[in-house]
Amino acid sequence: MIGLDSYCVEILEALERLRMRYLWVPEGVLLKILQKRYKESFLAKKLDFLEKYELIKFRYSRQSNQYMIRITSKGFDHLVLWELIKGGYIDRICSEVGTGKESFLYSAIKNNEWRIAKFHRFYGAPFKDIKKSAAFAAISREVHYEEVEIPRRRAENEYRILNALKGLNVPKVYARIKHGLLMNLIGKDGLPAPELSEVDLKNPKDALNIILEDYREFINRGIIHGDLSEFNILVYEGDLYYIDWPQAVSIENPAAKELLERDIRNILGYFKREYDIKVSEGEIVEKFLKEI
Ligand SMILES: Nc1ncnc2c1ncn2[C@@H]1O[C@H](COP(=O)(O)OP(=O)(O)OP(=O)(O)O)[C@@H](O)[C@H]1O
Ligand SMILES: [Mg+2]
Repeated sequence: MIGLDSYCVEILEALERLRMRYLWVPEGVLLKILQKRYKESFLAKKLDFLEKYELIKFRYSRQSNQYMIRITSKGFDHLVLWELIKGGYIDRICSEVGTGKESFLYSAIKNNEWRIAKFHRFYGAPFKDIKKSAAFAAISREVHYEEVEIPRRRAENEYRILNALKGLNVPKVYARIKHGLLMNLIGKDGLPAPELSEVDLKNPKDALNIILEDYREFINRGIIHGDLSEFNILVYEGDLYYIDWPQAVSIENPAAKELLERDIRNILGYFKREYDIKVSEGEIVEKFLKEI
């Protein structure tokens, strides 16, 4: 992440607005909007800077004999960052915590407390079905839908779910801005707690029972995780915390039962492989299904 001045932000915001009308914004259109306030040479310098850090992309159009500009996903991330700081949600971003398959994560500080800023990214597979839906048909003409709208929806869903699970062992959420999510950091000194997969449990049987009890709590709140595994559970100060909820669904969702079964299979599979603990999957799934 790089520091931006308010002029660069203004340019990015203008490009974001123009995205509704253009996939690639003609430079002339952008300059016309901004030249009311700034000199062209000043704007050119700012555009160079934004391009250098890959927050915007240029392309020459022979047809219209001018450059076309487009905000990149990194540019969008910086707009979220700007709003997080402006809104007083964080003081600053500290370091990159990880690159998930579907997101970039950064640690951040607010009043000496650690936060995690998670930027959702487009990732095809789980959202294939969306393309068949009426909702998709209605907005598919919008420019680069997949890069912008899907990550935003994933962030919205994760935010909604984490709010619904408030008080349980999940991250506390503070804000959702565009495709970005701000939550508390589970861990110490800005470092995330280890994942279950990285920890050698002393009492694996107890841990498994706790996970199953927690899972029941989630069901009681009407929610199925949908991607539960040893990689999405963090072990911190003897407790287990459940992260990574963008794909979670309500128990009324037609896919709920299938996802529940897969979650349980993943967890039991892990404890069997790693600790040789054998528990009948069918029995547990059946018990949970009764509660749905
Ligand atoms: N609230 C949090 N506190 C501490 N660490 C976190 C938090 N959220 C995420 N992390 C860290 O970042 C990693 C990736 O986060 P998450 O699983 O939410 O994203 P993802 O893009 O779905 O990743 P993946 O596809 O690899 O599962 C986690 O495994 C964990 O190490
Ligand atoms: Mg994950």
